[in-house]
Parts: sequence; C-alpha cells; structure tokens
Amino acid sequence: MSVLVTNIGELVTNDPALGEGPLGILTDAALVAEEGRVAWVGPSTRAPAADYGLDVAGAAVIPGFVDSHTHLVFAGDRVDEFEARMRGVPYTGGGIVTTVAATRTADDATLRANLARLVIEARRQGTTTIEIKSGYGLTVADEERSLRLAREATPETTFLGAHVVPPEYAGRTEEYVALVTGPMLAAAAPHARWVDVFCERGAFDVDAARTVLRAGLAAGLTPRVHANQLGPGPGVALAVEVGAASADHCTHLSGQDIDALAGSDTVATLLPGAEFSTRSPYPDARRLLDAGVTVALASDANPGSSYTTSMPFCIALAVREMRMTPGEALWAATAGGAAALRRDDVGRLTPGARADLAVLDAPSYRHLAYRPGVPLIRTVLIGGEPL
Ligand code: NIG
Ligand code: FE
Repeated sequence: MSVLVTNIGELVTNDPALGEGPLGILTDAALVAEEGRVAWVGPSTRAPAADYGLDVAGAAVIPGFVDSHTHLVFAGDRVDEFEARMRGVPYTGGGIVTTVAATRTADDATLRANLARLVIEARRQGTTTIEIKSGYGLTVADEERSLRLAREATPETTFLGAHVVPPEYAGRTEEYVALVTGPMLAAAAPHARWVDVFCERGAFDVDAARTVLRAGLAAGLTPRVHANQLGPGPGVALAVEVGAASADHCTHLSGQDIDALAGSDTVATLLPGAEFSTRSPYPDARRLLDAGVTVALASDANPGSSYTTSMPFCIALAVREMRMTPGEALWAATAGGAAALRRDDVGRLTPGARADLAVLDAPSYRHLAYRPGVPLIRTVLIGGEPL
C-alpha cells in the first residue's frame, strides 16, 4: 500500500542533502510512503501517483517525535507531592518509593491499561518512537513484569533496576546491587535493549553505577545513565567511560563533563519537563550545543518529576527557557532522540526511513514553540498508517 501526502507547506526531512539548512526543509512538497517506509520526497508538482492521497492543505509536516526517555510502567500518581513541591518542598527523588509501592501491588491489567493510556496520549501528541524504562518494580518479578509489559508497547525498553535502593534493602546497597546484577538482570535482559542507572547522591554512587552498567553490557544491553540531575557528580563522566548511548538530564555539568561529551558518541539528553515540574534550574543547552555535543530532548514522562508525555511542550520549554532555537529543539526532539537510541531509521523523513510523521495544524514547525499548550498535532502516521 502507498500513500501520497501532498500540499505540504513546509516539510522537515532532517536531511540537509534534501532541502534547506540543517533541517533539510522543502516547501510546497510531497511525500510518498510505501510499505511503511518513505519512498519519495520532493516538490508537490512532481509527485508520483499512489494508492491513497492525503492533502494537508499547506500544513507543516515533521518527522514523528522520538521520545528517548520515559518511565511509563507504574501505578498511581503523586499529585500531592507535586502540590507540596509547588508550595516549596524540594524534589529529592524520595517519592520514587511511593510509586514503587503502588506498582508492586497493581495487577498486570492495571499496569498494562495505564501504560497503554499514556502511550496513546504520547502518540496523539506526535510521538512515534518511545523508549520506556522499568524501575518502579525493584524486585526480580516486578522488574521482569515491567519490562515484559513495556515490550508490548515498544522495542526500546530499558532495565532500570538500579533506580533507587528499595526500602527492604535500606542500608544494604551492596546486596541490592548484587541482586540487580545477578538474578534481576537475568530476568530482565530478554525483554530489554538498554540498561540504565540513577547515578546521584541518594541513589547509586559511581562504583555501584559502574558495576550495574558493566553487568548490563556483559548481558548484551547498552548503557544509558541518569546523570547530574540534582547536583554535580560523576554520572556524565561514567556515561562517557562506558560508551553509553546517552547521558540523561545533564542539569549540573562541569567544563570537563562538556568536553568529555563533546569528544564522545554519548548524546546529552535534556529533559526540561523535569526542571519545569520540580522548579529547578534548566540545563545549559547553549553551552552543550556550542561545544558540539549532540543534544536530544525527551519528556522523562513519570509520575514524580515530569508527568507529561508532550514533546511539543518540551520543545516550547527548550526554546523559551533553554535558549535553543526552534530548529535546534525540533532536531533534538526527532533526530537527536534517534541518535540517543542509536537508530537511523527514525527521526528523519528520507527515502528508506520509517514513514513516521506528524502533520501540524500550523504552517511551520516553529509554531510548536510559538504556540505553547495548543494541540498542534493534526494527524500522525506511524509506519505510513494513520493513528
Ligand atoms: O528521571 N531521576 C530519577 N528518576 C526519574 C524520576 C522518578 C520519580 O520521581 O518517580 C527522573 O526524573
Ligand atoms: Fe528519568
């Protein structure tokens, strides 16, 4: 089956060889999707025939968002914690155990339904590739279950057994790390592509984090790291040391951290929804970009620090609060996310890539930041099929 999308006022391909600037923009363009892939892009006037037509009447079309960092397997919410925070109680990550308790007692059907609801919510806002972490189970059975359910929604699943030390292991971090790197990893690995660790004061120190990431590597998983979120620390350096696909958060960075990222293949994934919802200072995106670091934007969707699945909201924050240009923010939310997941078949609309795209209710992608909070995602195609 083939689909011809015509009358595209502004088509963002993310391929500079296909159009103007780093976003490879074509105007008055068309795109053909065939068997789930992009088969052709070019001027509307030269568009080939296809089985079906979709006339978007001058709207902008962008690659679907690649949300490379979410925590969507959980039960319950933490709205009370959010309200207290807005009154001045600081975020420490201490509320994670509240979600762990709720998640452990939930049955599979409850977890699956909540996950499905949130994935649909994300897709309606233009997300076409999503990474989902475990990390609210923290027992062998609950981590295995979290990843098994996440796998039903996406191939991009991440084992985060080292999220925090659960209460029953309080004061016995070494024993917990042995559990994570032993039986828990063995149960998780068949359902996971990635391994992650929360390397932060109050969670796991650099030695424990390294142990977890190395064990994950040995089990065939590629590392990603929750790094330098709440304060300066060794997380980013560790991410680069182990060849992690991304260092996520990157809120408190030293000059050395930035140099290390710039000289590596590790993507800096910025999660401004977390700074927004924890009322924290935003990461210095300009410093990272000016140093040549590859930057991704992701939602960090989770019930504690960032309960949003909206990539357009994250783009608006990145532009308004982190001084990224609208173009840099869109690239980071699409091609940047793809780089963070080491994927070259998503995040761009070039022949051969997956036909994952969003049609905007706007003439330009720049409206995503210019019109914050407005539902601008009109139509979403995933693998060439309408949502
Ligand atoms: O990425 N930092 C650790 N984990 C999550 C928050 C989890 C929570 O508060 O439930 C994050 O912000
Ligand atoms: Fe996170």
